[in-house]
Amino acid sequence: MGRLKADTAEQHIIAESKPLEADLIEGKIRPEHYRDYLAQRWFIHRELEAATDRAAALDSRLSTLGLPELYQTANIEADLAHVGAETASLKPHPGTKALTDFIRQADVAPLMGIYYVFEGSKNGGTMVANSLAKAWNQPEDRTGLRYLNPHGEAQRATWMQFRRKMNTIAWTDEEQAAMIQGAQTTFDLVAQIDDETYAA
Ligand code: HEM
Repeated sequence: MGRLKADTAEQHIIAESKPLEADLIEGKIRPEHYRDYLAQRWFIHRELEAATDRAAALDSRLSTLGLPELYQTANIEADLAHVGAETASLKPHPGTKALTDFIRQADVAPLMGIYYVFEGSKNGGTMVANSLAKAWNQPEDRTGLRYLNPHGEAQRATWMQFRRKMNTIAWTDEEQAAMIQGAQTTFDLVAQIDDETYAA
């Protein structure tokens, strides 16, 4: 997990400095952009969680991670319902399509690199959710912010436990390299998707 963090640190800086992310953390995101942000994440998490379910059925190492408790599709759907978006009407951007294709064909190691990026993003997400809750005048209320802040006070402990369990698995050197590549590709595509949301 230390290698994943170090080898994607530059990409994290690029991703978090995208105009969409800056507007999120400053509580300035416009409603239509927030809706599209959630929509793109809905396509991604549906594919990702189906893929990790399939992978866990084949590779028992993954069952130690307790992934279903961390899944986000239901949280995104609650947020989408709150902002009045029907899932049937959502459209993926090209970057989202590329990422869901990448997820679908990924072996276990790159898949866990992809998964790492979204699990890790809950750390910044919690901060973003706090900014938005203040901006929307609902300081104690996570309505519409389930995806960004799924664990509340338990975020830090949840993240530390995920890190510990990932580190306990005996990933080979080859798997570690493939995992890092998976995470790097994901960061690049997330940055692309953020720009596509703002260009739409
Ligand atoms: C407003 C934008 C963002 C902010 C303010 C932010 C902030 C943070 C912070 C404070 C951490 C915790 C660092 C630590 O505890 O060591 C973190 C971790 C992380 N973030 Fe972000 N982030 C943002 C956007 C993103 C995006 C868009 C992604 C990818 C989808 C992402 C992926 C990650 C990952 C994977 C980690 C875990 C790093 C590790 O391995 O410890 N972040 N972020």
